[in-house]
Amino acid sequence: MRDARWKLLATAVVLAALQTTRAAAQVRDSAQAAPPFDQAAALAELRKFIAGREEMPAVEVFNNVQQYRNATAGRFLRIMEFGFTVALGVDCTHCHRPGAWDSDEKPTKQIAREMSVMMAAINNEHLRRIPNLRSTNPQVNCTTCHRGQRRPALELPPTIRPPG
Ligand code: HEC
Ligand code: HEC
Repeated sequence: MRDARWKLLATAVVLAALQTTRAAAQVRDSAQAAPPFDQAAALAELRKFIAGREEMPAVEVFNNVQQYRNATAGRFLRIMEFGFTVALGVDCTHCHRPGAWDSDEKPTKQIAREMSVMMAAINNEHLRRIPNLRSTNPQVNCTTCHRGQRRPALELPPTIRPPG
């Protein structure tokens, strides 16, 4: 009699466990793959977010601006769209989880800040010390090195190497 009750209890426990596993499996199965990132839509949403405040300092409009503090909000978004994204041949997700724009969770975002510091040093210190350059204000930017690639080239592509 007692034995039978234990068996019943054990069966109930096993059934409950099975049900939980099945429920978990259902949740996993019904999880949708993330939709592909729509950069144009993300930018349109952000432009709406800054509407009327385009000329305000980015540091006042956004949450976590450390580097481009002097840029206006409008210019800040153009830096994201062209300066960063086009220059490296990536989309926003290279440095951001879409929507979590202020988060620093992706190391590439901090790398981009450090790259800006390096770029400012090249422009404001090193290039200024070189006499006899052609430009009165010689500059490098992200495109100078990256040329549409995440990793700047160390060699010319074979097709444009001088014949040797
Ligand atoms: C190469 C890396 C990189 C790419 C690509 C990039 N961002 Fe950023 N993003 C940054 C960095 C770095 C900052 C912080 C800048 C600072 O501290 O001044 C930032 C900040 C932002 C912020 C401000 C968030 C807040 O509230 O602080 C927004 C909005 C944003 N990015 C949108 C975009 C969008 C939209 C794209 C794609 C068109 C994009 N980013 C592409 C690196 C990137
Ligand atoms: C003087 C050349 C130079 C300039 C200018 C430059 N970069 Fe870079 N960048 C590099 C080099 C070199 C690497 C390292 C590549 C490697 O990992 O071998 C790199 C790597 C990066 C990476 C990491 C990419 C990845 O996926 O691993 C990011 C992000 C980046 N740069 C952003 C920028 C941004 C944004 C700018 C403009 C503000 C910029 N860089 C300007 C030379 C440069």
